[in-house]
Amino acid sequence: MAEHFRLTVNGNESELEASPDTPLLYALRNDLGLKGTRFGCGNGQCGACFVLIDGHPAPACDTPLWSVAGKIITTVEGLSKGRELHPLHNAFLAEQAAQCGYCTSGILISAAALLAKNLRPTEREVREALDRNLCRCGSHNRMVRAVLRAARE
Ligand code: FES
Ligand code: FES
Repeated sequence: MAEHFRLTVNGNESELEASPDTPLLYALRNDLGLKGTRFGCGNGQCGACFVLIDGHPAPACDTPLWSVAGKIITTVEGLSKGRELHPLHNAFLAEQAAQCGYCTSGILISAAALLAKNLRPTEREVREALDRNLCRCGSHNRMVRAVLRAARE
């Protein structure tokens, strides 16, 4: 049965009616129009749907709406400040760190969570932070370089 939810996403409060078991991913994409968060495996295994929940990267495909009431959600759209790109965006562009781009938003989310708590990560720490994010195009090395570039800049 549908219930009323109030979500805080990218600093904005939104209200919607949905079943409590609805995956957060569906609410973000279908109700709030935030299409940057992608559907990949649908069961928490690939990282394409990662968002920040109270600052921690989490799979939106595997997160029911009932569990995010009162929490702060940030999607890839929320990493920018208006038209100002996040340093990770610029670094990914500079390193040409995406091919098809399907995994990129989830990877940006994991990288942003890392840099929020560790401004000078080592390469190993970057690799560990991105370990839950799969990239079928094999762009991992460029992505690691991009995260290290963003940390430097
Ligand atoms: S779609 Fe959510 S982890 Fe793969
Ligand atoms: S860039 Fe294509 S899946 Fe990662």
